[in-house]
Amino acid sequence: MLKGRHFILGITGGIAAYKSVTLLRLLVKAGAEVQVVITPSGKEFITPVTLSALSGKPVICDFFTANTGEWHSHVDLGLWADAMIVAPATACTIAKMANGVADNMLVTTYLSAKAPVFVAPAMDLDMMAHPSTTANIERLRSYGNIIIEPASGELASHLIGKGRMEEPDNIVKVLEEYFTAKKAVDNSPLNGKRVLITAGPTYERIDPVRFIGNFSTGKMGYALADEAAARGAEVTLVSGPVSIEPKRPEVKVVKVESARQMLEACEEVFDSTDVAIMCAAVADYAPAAPKEQKIKREHQEVPVIELVKNPDIAATLGHRKREGQMVVGFALETDNEVANANEKLIRKNLDMIVLNSMRDPGAGFGTDTNTVTIITPDCDSVSYPSKPKSEVAADILDNVVSLMERRLT
Ligand code: PMT
Repeated sequence: MLKGRHFILGITGGIAAYKSVTLLRLLVKAGAEVQVVITPSGKEFITPVTLSALSGKPVICDFFTANTGEWHSHVDLGLWADAMIVAPATACTIAKMANGVADNMLVTTYLSAKAPVFVAPAMDLDMMAHPSTTANIERLRSYGNIIIEPASGELASHLIGKGRMEEPDNIVKVLEEYFTAKKAVDNSPLNGKRVLITAGPTYERIDPVRFIGNFSTGKMGYALADEAAARGAEVTLVSGPVSIEPKRPEVKVVKVESARQMLEACEEVFDSTDVAIMCAAVADYAPAAPKEQKIKREHQEVPVIELVKNPDIAATLGHRKREGQMVVGFALETDNEVANANEKLIRKNLDMIVLNSMRDPGAGFGTDTNTVTIITPDCDSVSYPSKPKSEVAADILDNVVSLMERRLT
């Protein structure tokens, strides 16, 4: 998995620099091309001669080679690399990376790198625990950098501690896993596709403090959004009021409250969408005239709330879709499950419907699991056993992909 890949190995001035020699050796053994970039203080710990002998390339430390005046282009280096690994990363270098202090070749290269950056911190425990260091590490994480800390096994936490640099063979494992996952994403039929997902309930206001809603928590829709993003899709998640967040930062969340707002948000992106998955539990009715002020118990008889029909978002998009677009609906049923789901599939002009029943324990609202039957107009339905919603999301997207592929042939 690492064969033929280009890595920049950034080495900074910490005692763990001796481990970088092993890391370099492992990367070269795996068939990777490695360019070492070392900080001036890194050279105090490990000699460039050892590193260049192992990598087969001159080690870069300065912006210029002193005797020839040759300029080292950090921009070209940043473009050449498939990944940059900073190991060990001292508190000082982490702080510089987090704040863009480009006063050496390593940090300058980091700022120019277009490839993913892996950072293996190494310092004593107190430095690692200092709020300044933890804040800088969080900052690097928020830039999308991958922080490689030692696995929090008993040995690590008791004897050696969190500040220890991760072992080189584990760093190689992290890189292998990363590139394996990347390959899967690159090959995924959903890679680069635009996917719209609705999730959660809608709230239909009665007055400023009350609403008509339902028990949806968003778990199923958010699991779908995370899974689609993991497969490389560009995901827009239109979400009713819930208390969860997507796990994957790439998911674009549009928060709405009511069915009308949800429809508006969906219509805004639908034309450029490849697949829309309507997982939200949308209220079918809304109060005709929500009150501006709180309805007071003391001032009146028991109020009668007149309702009006909400728009059907799935049906609207289903009837508006152009060739090549796919609209997937859900059906949450309490009786006549399959017949009702089939009826919704046709009436809403959907390409697929995911049936879940309130009669199945561990299915539907709020649970961490779901039990679904996936029905398409052109093939038999397939029923799955109860599974975590993350796995149900994967099953649904597998069915979406296989329908996409069937339609292409
Ligand atoms: O959020 P969780 O707690 O994880 O629960 C998940 C879930 C039970 C909400 C989810 O699995 C589910 O079944 N979502 C659809 C719930 C629902 O409203 O089903 P329905 O049979 O009433 O609607 C059929 C389809 O039309 C659905 O795709 C729904 O999103 C859509 N619809 C319904 C009404 C409406 N006004 N507009 C719509 O778009």
